[in-house]
Amino acid sequence: MPLSDYAAPHVLDLHAYVPGTQPSGEGWIKLNTNELPYPCSPAVAQAIMAEMTRLPLYPSPTSAPLRAAIAEHHGLQPEQVIVGNGSDDILNLLVRVFGGQTIDTFPSYSLYPVLVSIQNGQLQSVPFGEDMKLSVDKLAELKGSILFLTTPNAPTGVAFPRDDIGHLCERFDGIVVADEAYADFADRDCRPLMDKHDNLVITRTFSKSYGLAGLRVGYALAHAEVIDLLDRVRDSYNVNRLSQAGALAAFRDQDYLRDVVRKVRRTRDSFRQRCQAHGWFTYPSQSNFIFTRPETRDSRRGPEVAQALFAYLRERKILVRYFPNHPFTAPFLRISIGTEAQMTTLNDAIDQWLQHA
Ligand SMILES: Cc1ncc(COP(=O)(O)O)c(C=O)c1O
Repeated sequence: MPLSDYAAPHVLDLHAYVPGTQPSGEGWIKLNTNELPYPCSPAVAQAIMAEMTRLPLYPSPTSAPLRAAIAEHHGLQPEQVIVGNGSDDILNLLVRVFGGQTIDTFPSYSLYPVLVSIQNGQLQSVPFGEDMKLSVDKLAELKGSILFLTTPNAPTGVAFPRDDIGHLCERFDGIVVADEAYADFADRDCRPLMDKHDNLVITRTFSKSYGLAGLRVGYALAHAEVIDLLDRVRDSYNVNRLSQAGALAAFRDQDYLRDVVRKVRRTRDSFRQRCQAHGWFTYPSQSNFIFTRPETRDSRRGPEVAQALFAYLRERKILVRYFPNHPFTAPFLRISIGTEAQMTTLNDAIDQWLQHA
């Protein structure tokens, strides 16, 4: 009998999440997974080295020192914070606890549907129009136990008005998750809403603005009752010792964070202007990437044009992200913001493509 016959039936239909390519070999300009193009704070390496001698010991099961630092920074109690093995871990815990009837939006972070199907839950996905306006009325009346909203959104980069999210929390009868993986690059975030709305959960990550994607640390801010439930379904040592130490050092170096965020935002805004100067429709981004719809010089656009530019750049070892599987996303490319030098190479390649396309 095939071994798969022993598996839970719903697992047989699962499709694993497909992360962006991590190319092997040298010389790539990697603008496809929204990583920070700068190194992390130098304090991280120091903290990790210092922790090396303690590797025979298990880490703090609750990531206690990091929880305390995050809580203090956000003006909360440690009981209102949970730390995870990346924010993906936290999103998974949220679906484990609340994911019976999940609502998400499209386009959005494509991991949510995968997590829901792992738990064999129900998912309702609400499509955005091209204007990316948040339809609070439509979402609030849906029946669901949890609603995921990515703000700033991925892959468009659009941030939703805080008041709209507040109204959604007020009116939706369930947990509202604001996935704020990119909030450090935005003008504002949802933290102030937590004081009024017990059902709001905010998730954050060290993978983007802190330049620590390889360390795998994320966290959530929520009501203590929610955190208590998430803690019950968490792996007991879900964040390793080196990751806890490195993330804590990065978190304490807020000056460094501010500096790199300022650089990324400046590069982002000038790259968006450049896309618009080509006549390409480009969403206003509050994150560290740009979602733009390429056009040829004779104003052709669409999936073939986006695919052609994607392939042209890849041949030149510039990797951006293309989502061909949906009519909303297929005419666009998502381009992570690199260093000034990387963006100059990208812009030169785009100019050359435009001459021939
Ligand atoms: C919207 C969103 N949420 C969460 C994550 C996951 O972040 P982490 O690396 O903390 O698991 C990503 C990663 O790309 C993301 O785009």
